[in-house]
Amino acid sequence: SKARHFKWEVDYMYATPDCLENVVMGINGQFPGPTIKARAGDTVVVHLTNKLHTEGVVIHWHGIRQFGTPWADGTASISQCAINPGETFVYRFKVDKAGTYFYHGHYGMQRSAGLYGLLIVDVEEGKKESFHYDGEFNLLLSDWWHKGAHEQEVDLSSNPMRWIGEPQSLLINGRGQYNCTLAPAHNSNGSSLPVCKFRGNEQCAPNILHVEPNKTYRLRVASTTALASLNLAIGNHKMVMVEADGNYLQPFSVNDFDIYSGETYSVIFRTDQNLSNNYWISVGVRGREPKTPQGLAILHYKSTTSSKLPNLPPPKTPQWNDYTRSKSFANKILAFSGSPRPPTNYTRRIFLLNTQNRINGYTRWAINNVSLNLPSTPYLGSIKHGLTSAFDQKSPPETFVNTYDITMPPSNPNATYGNGVYKLEFGKTIDVILQNANALNANVSEIHPWHLHGHDFWILGYGEGKFSKKDEKKLNLQNPPLRNTVVIFPYGWTALRFVTDNPGVWAFHCHIEPHLHMGMGVIFASGVHLVGKIPEEALSCGLTGKLLRSNNHN
Ligand code: C2O
Ligand code: CU
Repeated sequence: SKARHFKWEVDYMYATPDCLENVVMGINGQFPGPTIKARAGDTVVVHLTNKLHTEGVVIHWHGIRQFGTPWADGTASISQCAINPGETFVYRFKVDKAGTYFYHGHYGMQRSAGLYGLLIVDVEEGKKESFHYDGEFNLLLSDWWHKGAHEQEVDLSSNPMRWIGEPQSLLINGRGQYNCTLAPAHNSNGSSLPVCKFRGNEQCAPNILHVEPNKTYRLRVASTTALASLNLAIGNHKMVMVEADGNYLQPFSVNDFDIYSGETYSVIFRTDQNLSNNYWISVGVRGREPKTPQGLAILHYKSTTSSKLPNLPPPKTPQWNDYTRSKSFANKILAFSGSPRPPTNYTRRIFLLNTQNRINGYTRWAINNVSLNLPSTPYLGSIKHGLTSAFDQKSPPETFVNTYDITMPPSNPNATYGNGVYKLEFGKTIDVILQNANALNANVSEIHPWHLHGHDFWILGYGEGKFSKKDEKKLNLQNPPLRNTVVIFPYGWTALRFVTDNPGVWAFHCHIEPHLHMGMGVIFASGVHLVGKIPEEALSCGLTGKLLRSNNHN
């Protein structure tokens, strides 16, 4: 294993992600940011310099557990102080597990602004995967708005709230087409867009995956969408699902698969189709009424010319509201045999009710009626140094009233702001039952992909309605998949289990950026007394900053 060093500068820049010029956040002048490639056991060292003129920045390494380095998790107000303009912060962490990961901004709505990239961890030198492949490709999926992230932020925090609407385009590795179409004959949205004409080096020209016929390829796919739930398919090609969120799956074959924000997958496919054709890779919206055209890339068989457009239409995205289909896919995801199994019993079970609420007229998302507002002093430092005035010391509610009707808009939509922490005893088994409910409007219940920092969890099961005693025996303790992101379906529940084996303070939140911004998250703290010396640069703001300065004077 070795250390891999990177020097990065974050700045705003102009780019044309979907053929329209916009301001994006770039790293070293690149959008999306550079792909990090490492091997399991390596140490990644990123010297991140903030070149923004008027705002802070942090980067979160999504899916990397940060054992022993909780201050490198890259969450503003949680694991560290935002890096000030002109300053450099060094992220140093171990990538201990092979898999498909990504990174993204975790301050304000900087992920929506385009601050993201891939992080690929290969197996250790000399080791082999259990599946064979001749080559691999990476696809980073995102959604794009023409309105800037700052404006979106103001929209969402206005009274009354102004909803940001659906994305204008879907990007594959930062490329999409807004004002033209690649597949005019087959445009699924029935629009009359002109055909895209590319000279070849445009920033918004589609990705072309060049493949040899009759070979096996691995496709790594990560979704860092701000909002959209997606479905991906390759025309005429079946795929085998083999990895999710850095954990191996019991392989199963699909024609297409759903991917929610915060999730990653690896699939294997054979280039065994008619070798004189090319094929579309299509990405479309699910879970919300799609108002965004499909994102497209091209699978190019080297036996033909790459300029030849596929003669078959792009695969159609399944009906956006066919939840039976989505659930059946989710239930097929099981752990590879021999994967670690969950402990049979839990020490503590926390119920988290997801509701949309109103606080003084502001629209917010709340968990057990508390809407998360992050404090100015990051939790990791304030807990470690016993600064009890940094945040609300009262524990947030462990459950919700059992008379709550999840099928109706909240009868009392009022919630409160909060920044309390669930203090989880170290080395214990925690169950979380995520309970979905009706939003503020009647007959609306949305999908929420929940992501846990610092840990993987086992998905014990999904169910309809309110979780109850009788659901207990339906939980899968035999071969539940390990993940770091899991979805809750409309009006349903999701049960998950994890072990508090990683000292630190960890966010657990909906990965939909506007939802997180509107308070949809909770904070877990565990074993903070076991955390080693936190680098001072992570503590230089708020009450820990004050403490540092007074210590330096004495
Ligand atoms: Cu990828 Cu806290 O998020
Ligand atoms: Cu959400």
